Amino acid sequence: MRIEDSKLKTGLDALGVDLHSGTSLAERTSLGIGGTTDLLRITKHESIPHLISLLERHQVPYKFLGGGSNLLVGDGELPWVILQLARPDPEIVLAGNFAHVDAAADLGRTVTYCAKHDLGGMEGLIGVPGTVGGALRMNAGAYGMQIGSYVREVKLYRAAERRIEILRGQEISFEYRHTSFAPDDMMLAVTLELPSKPFKDILQGIRICNEKRRSSQPLGQKSAGCIFKNPPGSSAGRMIDELGLKGLSVGDARVSDRHANFFVNAGCASANDMLTLISDVRGRVEKAFGVRLENEVVVWNR
Ligand code: EPU
Repeated sequence: MRIEDSKLKTGLDALGVDLHSGTSLAERTSLGIGGTTDLLRITKHESIPHLISLLERHQVPYKFLGGGSNLLVGDGELPWVILQLARPDPEIVLAGNFAHVDAAADLGRTVTYCAKHDLGGMEGLIGVPGTVGGALRMNAGAYGMQIGSYVREVKLYRAAERRIEILRGQEISFEYRHTSFAPDDMMLAVTLELPSKPFKDILQGIRICNEKRRSSQPLGQKSAGCIFKNPPGSSAGRMIDELGLKGLSVGDARVSDRHANFFVNAGCASANDMLTLISDVRGRVEKAFGVRLENEVVVWNR
């Protein structure tokens, strides 16, 4: 979708929103799949309620992009514009055991920055790609920890209230790859309370998690992490593997040879290739095990 209306462009300028025309989502997602649209980069959180009203007045649909690491976007010209937070400087401010982090901050860099200041707890998240906002929305987790455990406060744009609010950690429910945020709420910033730990101990934990990840996941390839959530008490990857589906392909969309719950873009996969592969694998797992796998990957299709 292209923004051409000059009044709208002037309105965006006035809000300090940068317009990037014809942005390729394939270049902004870890899967390397997705069509093109205009991207609006937001420099001031406080402009968001005005921006949303402006877009609605001009009947421009929008979606909010984090780091693009758990996302499968449709092909071709996309029917909505993309909103994304610009990264502020600084992204992280520490005060004792509290880390105030902007949602646009890179998750891995946040973990290492806190580690260097002797704040631990998030070692398991080190290899998880994406932004802090994305991790928060999905309650990202790995190796026995999840980000929600450390959340004390969240600043967000509440779509239903049409305003920016601060929620305390206790007001939010964090479950396995799920939170109580509404789908169109936008994460803006978070305060984490992290346990004190010597840097060298945190580093040791980080090294162990990195090694586990390297030995079991296809890190160098284009993927969106795990495609399916694990059903209670079971592993989607193990089930897919047991069916001998590693290497199964639709075009360049392929079930990873290394971890069967990672589907990789081995070249120029289209969104349709990936969606066909997902539905094929889901169908086979359901037939064999009677379990209907739920997507972990977020799909933006028309
Ligand atoms: N397994 C297989 N074959 C495979 C993959 C896994 O037999 O192809 C077996 C493993 O040997 C193991 C079991 O399945 O016995 C579980 O595998 P793994 O430890 O790799 O964990 P997972 O359940 O597949 C989850 C998360 C990952 C996270 C790891 C480590 C989900 C859907 N996945 O994977 O998160 O990194 O644990 O904590 O919850 C993600 O969310 O995108 C993600 C990658």
